[in-house]
Amino acid sequence: MKKVYIRTFGCQMNEKDSEVVLSLLQPDFVLTEEPESADLILINTCSVREKPQHKLYSEIGRFKELKKKRPDLLIGVMGCVAQQEGERIVEKYPYVDLVLGTQAFYQIKSAIERRLREGKPVVLTELKPDFKPPLVLGSSKPKRVKAFVNIMQGCDNFCTYCIVPYVRGREVSRPPEDILREVEYLVKEEGVKEVTLLGQNVNSYGLKEKSYGDFASLLEKVSQIDGLLRIRFTTSHPKDLTERLMRIIAENPKVCKHIHLPLQAGSNRILKLMNRKYTREEYIAKVERLRELCPEIAITSDIIVGFPGETEDDFLQTIDMLEKVRFHEIFSFKYSDRPFAVAKNFKDKVPEEIKEERLKRVHEAQAKITAEIYQSYVGKEVEVLVEGRSERDENQLTGRTTTNVIVNFTAPRLDLEGKLVMVLIESAGKHSLKGRYVRASF
Ligand code: 5AD
Ligand code: SF4
Repeated sequence: MKKVYIRTFGCQMNEKDSEVVLSLLQPDFVLTEEPESADLILINTCSVREKPQHKLYSEIGRFKELKKKRPDLLIGVMGCVAQQEGERIVEKYPYVDLVLGTQAFYQIKSAIERRLREGKPVVLTELKPDFKPPLVLGSSKPKRVKAFVNIMQGCDNFCTYCIVPYVRGREVSRPPEDILREVEYLVKEEGVKEVTLLGQNVNSYGLKEKSYGDFASLLEKVSQIDGLLRIRFTTSHPKDLTERLMRIIAENPKVCKHIHLPLQAGSNRILKLMNRKYTREEYIAKVERLRELCPEIAITSDIIVGFPGETEDDFLQTIDMLEKVRFHEIFSFKYSDRPFAVAKNFKDKVPEEIKEERLKRVHEAQAKITAEIYQSYVGKEVEVLVEGRSERDENQLTGRTTTNVIVNFTAPRLDLEGKLVMVLIESAGKHSLKGRYVRASF
């Protein structure tokens, strides 16, 4: 049996694509953790920001020596950088055998055959506007508590800083029948208890494909699957967060009380330049309504600092939004120019040291808020879906609350993987909570 080593960078969509590739390579390949023993090395890349893209180049360099020693080794690059750079990758790194774009990776098997037959690199980067991702069942991880499920591909929003619409193509939703079959398969065959429905903007699911129904109705259908305990989803664009969806989140017991709702910036002027299509006031109004319907909901967000033209006053409005909204947690990034993205040509780029300083201030402001929110869990009993043993301590269990906070806890028995349990929170750390098992949850 041949071995495949796969290195994944970037978002959950990439993690899912890597899993799909592993399924497609069954039964010819098994997964290995050691690149030295692999017959096929795949690097799944991300180009949403500058930093992860740089990682690809250092990674390819690492594998050059292996290829010298074993010329039969195949090296493939997939993901957003593969899509973006295409032929340029094999021009720069002639020892790369396969370059598979964000739609082409489904053809991995025939691409490998072609590579072996023709003896030269295979580069596939076509992006079709009506691309339909095939249904791929079966994976190399037969038993697990959580799994990702793609519900759509691509993005039509064209936020001016973002490369995604150019490297992942137009937004296309998957038919609900395919999604339901995939979730049923995961629950019945792989023991999955929690699925995360993935899309660049899940809130616009089915808007172009009227017969599919909208995202709220998809959530309802998925929640009817027996044996599935929890449903998460990401990412939600604030402009498409409807009253109907808010109600489903609030009322459906299987839908987790957490929403990732990227704000990006707090100033209306910058939001407009970003083409985000909402104002800070509209954002706040949606958050208030959501909390009215579902007081326990945790909201997390993405923030970009130093977008072209961002003044100190604009930036202070981002800090002000952090304080007003009080996110559970945020991911914050320094703006970087991306190929194709419109903002690349905007003037008034913010100097690196100012971006650095603003990022630090955002971190500090949010750390304080997160600490206060985490502290508020202490003394409460929370429901946790057990994912397995804690990484830090083999004698403890780990899982997440419905609000997506990590909990490490002691328990009288350790064979509770996949079970919902009640945990009493005893202390709060920076990125997780600690507690002890109280009882099973039904
Ligand atoms: N610069 C910095 N951050 C970016 N993101 C997307 N594009 C850029 C960019 N050019 C961030 C956004 C997005 C997250 C996935 O990455 O915050 O929500
Ligand atoms: Fe990028 Fe905006 Fe689409 Fe998100 S919604 S993937 S930020 S273009």
